[in-house]
Amino acid sequence: MVKVLFVCLGNICRSPTAHGVFEKIIADNGLSTAIQVDSAGTGNWHIGRAPDSRSCDAAAQRGYDLSHLRARQVTPADFEYFDYILAMDGDNLSHLLSIAPSSYEGHLGLFMDFAGPTRGVSVPDPYYGGSDGFSRVVDMVEKASRGLLQHIAIHHAG
Ligand code: 4NP
Repeated sequence: MVKVLFVCLGNICRSPTAHGVFEKIIADNGLSTAIQVDSAGTGNWHIGRAPDSRSCDAAAQRGYDLSHLRARQVTPADFEYFDYILAMDGDNLSHLLSIAPSSYEGHLGLFMDFAGPTRGVSVPDPYYGGSDGFSRVVDMVEKASRGLLQHIAIHHAG
């Protein structure tokens, strides 16, 4: 079982979108028992809440259901459990690097690094913007999800 954790700031917009999109792509490929997905926020403001309705709407328009997800905060135990901890932006990654134990052996990096050859790209925070920001998150997350699945298939074959 390969375990993947998506992380943003609030765990109500970007990382739940990644969670729902990647979960569906995995299910569509018959890999639900091989890959486990979760998401969390670096912040604690929204713990226990469902994803932002604008994220739910943007995802639903593209066939992804986020309604079962609830926000939680990253914990030290996540570094013991997850093989991939993937940040949505550079600030999220800096935060994770500051709390990660030096013994962490998994992959800690930006999710968008799996979208193509360009490194260092962030998924912009859509929270204070209009609805285009939310559909752009779905676009970016779909692209990176396909790349991540391909990467996992190559590196964790069998
Ligand atoms: P997310 O978006 O990190 O993609 O979940 C945000 C959600 C809430 C806030 C900021 C970003 N906030 O400031 O409450």
